[in-house]
Amino acid sequence: MTWDPQQYAVYEDERSRPFHELVDRIGATAPRRVVDLGCGQGTLTQALLQRWPTAWVEGIDSSPEMIASAAVGTGVDLRVADIADWAPSDDTDVVVSNAALQWVPGHPDLLRRWAKAVPEDGWLAWQVPGNFGSPSHRLMRELAESPRWARRLGGVLRHSDAVLEPDRYAQLLVDEGMSADVWESTYQHVLVGQDPVLEWVRGTALRPLLAVLVPTDAARFERDYAAALRSAYPAVDGTTLFAFRRIFCVGHKP
Ligand SMILES: C[S@@+](CC[C@H](N)C(=O)[O-])C[C@H]1O[C@@H](n2cnc3c(N)ncnc32)[C@H](O)[C@@H]1O
Repeated sequence: MTWDPQQYAVYEDERSRPFHELVDRIGATAPRRVVDLGCGQGTLTQALLQRWPTAWVEGIDSSPEMIASAAVGTGVDLRVADIADWAPSDDTDVVVSNAALQWVPGHPDLLRRWAKAVPEDGWLAWQVPGNFGSPSHRLMRELAESPRWARRLGGVLRHSDAVLEPDRYAQLLVDEGMSADVWESTYQHVLVGQDPVLEWVRGTALRPLLAVLVPTDAARFERDYAAALRSAYPAVDGTTLFAFRRIFCVGHKP
């Protein structure tokens, strides 16, 4: 599956706010190494250097397209790598992952490993979407599994087990001896323009489907999906409300 940095950036403001709200809850004062897992284009990784100017700041992302389009300044080191292969080093005082772990099957096991491996006074902070049951995702799954598309698209999408519920993440942190600061927020995004929810998911959740369809079929799928989205998220006076639930977790090793 490829990522399209330009498409992802269409709702940059809405997508970056949860990152800042997550990082605000990290209490580290002078961390040695700060790592951003699934850093995308690194724009937000750069913000980590602004918060901790003396830290060695790294970002990893499995998408060569995202890393190639990054424009970060000195002091931020980005590279192509898989989160599943990553492990903290002895000086990794802060680990951040914003809107990425939902793409990594089995990430709770990785989180347990990282919780054991980070040094004392280390921090683990991640944010994942909690909207797999929302109409945007349910309608996408229903269409992909309909008789017309199931042969090509059946089993491509990840389901509600892509992320854990907040209580299970909190328990994971507590089980690993970390403090747990876990919460959820539902943002009421006010979107404008034609089919704005389709435009939003084109940058993220729809990508696995687009990756396996030839362009003409992708356009057909999008046409049917857009019609279903219009009923679920009607535009009123040119604006469309798009509720987006997100789950935030911050753990600290005493
Ligand atoms: C929704 S974007 C978030 C990007 C950035 N963290 C942000 O908040 O703007 C998800 C990112 O996770 C990356 N990703 C997905 N699976 C990954 C994996 N297994 N290893 C590394 N990166 C991964 C994707 O390439 C993509 O850039």
